[in-house]
Amino acid sequence: MVPSGSYIPLFLFFLSSSASTTLTGFVSIDCANQTFHDPLASENLNSLFKSLVSRSSTTNFYKTTSGENNQSISGFYQCHFDLSKINCSRCITELMHSIQKMCKTNTLAARVQLNGC
Ligand SMILES: *[C@@H]1O[C@H](CO)[C@@H](O)[C@H](O)[C@H]1NC(C)=O
Ligand SMILES: *[C@@H]1O[C@H](CO)[C@@H](O)[C@H](O)[C@H]1NC(C)=O
Ligand SMILES: *[C@@H]1O[C@H](CO)[C@@H](O)[C@H](O)[C@H]1NC(C)=O
Repeated sequence: MVPSGSYIPLFLFFLSSSASTTLTGFVSIDCANQTFHDPLASENLNSLFKSLVSRSSTTNFYKTTSGENNQSISGFYQCHFDLSKINCSRCITELMHSIQKMCKTNTLAARVQLNGC
């Protein structure tokens, strides 16, 4: 029974730290292996990222599509409902950095979760 005794304090620690200190703490990431090679899609991806980051300072949930052609890309984010606008924006900014850092460039799809968004 030694293992179960040592799990409980650890769990409590995570609960309290996610509430107060680690807004942008890393939870999980999934990146598609496939990438796209169309420069137009690359532009659409950049403008999608910009649009999501800029909206995150005004609303906690947003969904949009970038590009009007067959290379268009969709994305959405959701911040925890009780997050302030400024912290939602901080969280989404960090989230976009995580995708750029941890996924292949021009990955076809990615999904990231941080503590706050
Ligand atoms: C933003 O989050 C931090 C914790 O990461 C918190 O201390 C701070 O009060 C929050 N700011 C606002 C304006 O909610
Ligand atoms: C993704 O790529 C890695 C390395 O090329 C490979 O080992 C892995 O099996 C791939 N996964 C999928 C789901 O295709
Ligand atoms: C996208 O559309 C362009 C012209 O509208 C076409 O030439 C191209 O083959 C299409 N690409 C795909 C992947 O469907």
